[in-house]
Amino acid sequence: MSAGLVQAAYIVAALFFILSLAGLSKQESARSGNYYGLAGMTIALIATIFGPESEGFVWIIIAMVIGGGIGIHYAKKVEMTEMPELVAILHSFVGMAAVLVGYNSYIDAPVIASLNPQEAHAAHVIHLVEVFLGVFIGAVTFTGSVVAFGKLRGVISSSPLNLPHKHKLNLAAVVVSTLLMIYFVKADGSMFALILMTLIAFAFGYHLVASIGGADMPVVVSMLNSYSGWAAAAAGFMLANDLLIVTGALVGSSGAILSYIMCKAMNRSFISVIAGGFGQEVVISDDVEQGEHRETSAEEVAEMLKDSKSVIITPGYGMAVAQAQYPVHEITEKLRAQGVNVRFGIHPVAGRLPGHMNVLLAEAKVPYDIVLEMDEINDDLSETDTVLVIGANDTVNPAALEDPNSPIAGMPVLEVWNAKNVIVFKRSMNTGYAGVQNPLFFKENTQMLFGDAKESVDAISKAL
Ligand code: TAP
Repeated sequence: MSAGLVQAAYIVAALFFILSLAGLSKQESARSGNYYGLAGMTIALIATIFGPESEGFVWIIIAMVIGGGIGIHYAKKVEMTEMPELVAILHSFVGMAAVLVGYNSYIDAPVIASLNPQEAHAAHVIHLVEVFLGVFIGAVTFTGSVVAFGKLRGVISSSPLNLPHKHKLNLAAVVVSTLLMIYFVKADGSMFALILMTLIAFAFGYHLVASIGGADMPVVVSMLNSYSGWAAAAAGFMLANDLLIVTGALVGSSGAILSYIMCKAMNRSFISVIAGGFGQEVVISDDVEQGEHRETSAEEVAEMLKDSKSVIITPGYGMAVAQAQYPVHEITEKLRAQGVNVRFGIHPVAGRLPGHMNVLLAEAKVPYDIVLEMDEINDDLSETDTVLVIGANDTVNPAALEDPNSPIAGMPVLEVWNAKNVIVFKRSMNTGYAGVQNPLFFKENTQMLFGDAKESVDAISKAL
């Protein structure tokens, strides 16, 4: 394949990636968005493998078969609830790839023959800067993503790491790395400076994400998504591969936009989150005595639902764990057939990844038009007879609005307690992801329906 043909194929692939992003931004078109992405990646791979710069065809195929095999195996096995972990660990691969490409490009620097000595020197300096920045971003992305993976999987504590002078440590890492870059360029590429910076960047990435508390993890995952895009773009510069630069920039900027939107949705400062919790005071509230909670049964809930004119269901992570979306759809249909107005209220960070609940409900064929965003439904909650909180906790916690010392203070929540009756489906009185107690469970209009969400909803469906 000639160089010209490869460039043409890259442009087509880049267009497919843009169509893919556009498709993925809406539930209705998400499936076609995925197909566009697949098509773009197939074209990109074929053009690169058969392009004039590729060597070692057999090695590439062997690596692809092994990598693809492992990828298919894990993608088939992974549960929907484990998706954020998978995404986090995949980001770490992008980060590590950028580090390796950086070292490779440093050791085996490209030779540009047709330049005069002055231009050749400028190109060499640019190359050194590309290597240094690429390795830095890649190393931060790598360890940051590994920590995010550990936190999401529960092998690393989700509470923020609070080292003394943590912001000064972060600042020192950036300043020392910048000085090392100046030295690296002046010394015409010192291996020592590169290795030292890599170690600092690994520690910096670890510390940056470890300092962020569980409640802000959704933003961290999308922020690492953005970092992985910039790492890929940096690798694209080092490899002089235009498509990698374009793709990296698309991922980097869309991830940054998503992080910003999520920060707004959670009322968090963007700068504070990306700077590892900068400016956040961590106050651990004492366990306040909350009072008594009341329990109910599936049969009682079924009766209550039959007597209701309007019902709002607010699902959360527990619905995903229990895979309760199918019986939830069943009761929705039964109630709608009896003239009850049933709608869903989706919090922007319900579950463990953006859009988690929407995907589950779509999978169970719940009509899109009754699935509303938090902002669209919050005002209607006070005129609602019954709210079913199915496996949600932090996203319906009144402490976010009422307790300024709560780790989730300021985060907008679904104000379910304004409804006439609230039924909370969960297995115990345990806390949610952010690890904070929920005063909703102790309100007078709240009743707890303990047990696995799927079993509880199945029992209600039978009783209906
Ligand atoms: P959570 O606050 O995590 O609460 C989930 C609840 O589900 C828990 O209280 C748990 O209580 C219950 N549960 C678990 N398994 C269950 C089962 N089989 N049957 C019934 N209940 C079950 O969930 P949420 O309200 O969806 O909030 C999401 C949280 O995750 C937020 O803190 C958010 O910041 C964080 N987060 C979100 C994302 C994104 S992007 N969405 C990413 C990472 C983290 P029991 O154990 O008592 O059953």
